[in-house]
Order: sequence, then C-alpha cells, then structure tokens
Amino acid sequence: MSQPASTGRAPGKVILFGEHAVVYGYPAIAVPVSQVQALAQAEGGPPGQGTVVHAPDLGRRVVVREAARDDPLATIVRLALEAIRAAPDPDLTVAVRSTVPVARGMGSGASVSTAIVRALAAYYHRWLTSQAISDLVYQTEVLYHGTPSGIDNTVVAFEKPVFFVRGETREVFWVGRPFLLAIADTGIESPTREVVGDLRRRYEAEPLRYRPLFEEAGSIARQARAAIARGSVDELGGLMDRNHALLWQMDVSCPELDRLAAAAHEAGALGAKLSGAGRGGNMIALVTEESCGQVELMLQLAGAVRVLITEVS
Ligand code: PMV
Repeated sequence: MSQPASTGRAPGKVILFGEHAVVYGYPAIAVPVSQVQALAQAEGGPPGQGTVVHAPDLGRRVVVREAARDDPLATIVRLALEAIRAAPDPDLTVAVRSTVPVARGMGSGASVSTAIVRALAAYYHRWLTSQAISDLVYQTEVLYHGTPSGIDNTVVAFEKPVFFVRGETREVFWVGRPFLLAIADTGIESPTREVVGDLRRRYEAEPLRYRPLFEEAGSIARQARAAIARGSVDELGGLMDRNHALLWQMDVSCPELDRLAAAAHEAGALGAKLSGAGRGGNMIALVTEESCGQVELMLQLAGAVRVLITEVS
C-alpha cells in the first residue's frame, strides 16, 4: 500500500514595526496572521516522475529536476529533502494551495516554502525545529527578495510575534494583552525586491538623510516591543503613526496607502501605517472591538480590495 499523503501548513504575516530599517540592522517586529495560510500536501507519484510541485494559486507547475537552480519552489524542495536526508528527486507530487496574497507584504513566499518543508518532513516522518525550518526558508527568501532581512521566514516558521535584529536577535515574545489589527489591501502588487533595491540606491547616495530615519524606526520597534509585552496597547497607535511618517519620508508609501491610513483614523483606529515593503501591499491599523466594524467599512469605501481583522496574541 502506498504511503498516505502528508500535509504542512504555515500562516501569513505582517510587519508591525521597523520594515526597511531592519535591512540595515535596526530592530523590527512581525506577527503571524493565521487568517491567510499556505497548505502543502506531499504524496507518492508515478515511478520515474521525480518530484513535481503543483502550485495553481501561484500559476506554477515545477518539475524539480528540470527547474533552474534559482527557482524558489524547486530550491525549497531540494533543500528540505537534503535537510531530512531523503534521497534526491524522489517520486513525489507536492500540491500547494495558498490564500496568502502575493507581493502584498504578507509573507507569501516564506509561507509557501514553510508549508512545503513541513509537508516533506511529515512525509518522511522527520521533525525539524522551527529554527531549522526558518534557516532553510531564508535561502529561498534570498531568491525572492535579493537581500532579505530574514524576518519573514522567522515569524512564519515560529508562528509567534517576533522581535528581530538582522544577524543578532530573533526573539519570540509574549503579548501582555491581545489586540486587534485591521489589515487592508491596496490591491497593488509591490515586489519587495524592487522597493528594497530602490531605497538602497537612495540610501547609498545620501546616507546622512536616511540613517536617522532608520534609527528612529528601530527605536520605535524597541518601544513597541516593551509596550506589547507589558500590555500597554494604547501606546502602540502613536508609535504606528510615527513609523508610517518615517516610511513616508523614506519614500516607500504611496497615495493609496496614505488614503487607507487616513480612512482608518477617521473611523476611529488608534494608529495606522503601511506594512512591509510599501508602494502597495497592505496598510495595518490598530482597532478595538468597538471600532473594528466601522474601520472595516471605511477602509472598503477608501478603496481597500480586502480587509482582514486579526488578533495579535
Ligand atoms: O515582504 P514584505 O513586503 O513584508 O517586506 C519586507 C520587509 C522589508 O523590511 C522591506 C524587507 C526585509 O527583507 O525585511
């Protein structure tokens, strides 16, 4: 009898504080978002087919042995098989479904890669630590993003709020009091690699202009981490607003994101900012149980193509 199929899943994520500055070594905070998910299922395939990945939501079917060395889906399969010491190119079909929107700052690449690693590990009855999964997924993030900070793979693999300093700290931390976020999608795809590359060129041309912006964003992330841990949720709104202003000065916002942030405020949100690379993707707003319905409505009226309410806990 053939072995039953094995599944692996992973959440999406949003960056709460410190995007972009995190690439330059300043702290950032990201949280998982379980309303969007990637799911992978591994099962035996016909003899001789090798490993094939079907990812219809990404519009991809990848025959791993024929794929380019830098194909992210083939790469995560190869890395995972090596990590779990399975023979290379086994006859396997890996089906991937994902509701994590692509190129919107919600960690779609990291989520899909994590789900694939988990499905393959389950298929071979191997257990990998969250850190080991995160390290594997980081290698595919390099293919998607160029110079990723590593925050996406960390928060998605650990599925907990993460305080992150590139190359130094990856701390999963506790939330003193749960709080609600509205996540509003501009509907605009924004490839992280391009926005990060553009900011890097501008930073290299004018480091004295950008360095203070990164420093302040990092200091906001530290203050926010302390506030979240002690349950002082009311302090977060102002920190989000200030972080958005800094991102605006980094020129990574856009009129659609600014409009959504303003609409959230008008509807009673306690703070709002873009999340992720910017120039599209998502805006996040701090809401309460009382304000979330009104904020959701106003965000839709202001052009959001989708609004999610998620609890950070
Ligand atoms: O993948 P996104 O859109 O959430 O953005 C990544 C956040 C950046 O700080 C802009 C880049 C990075 O690698 O951390």
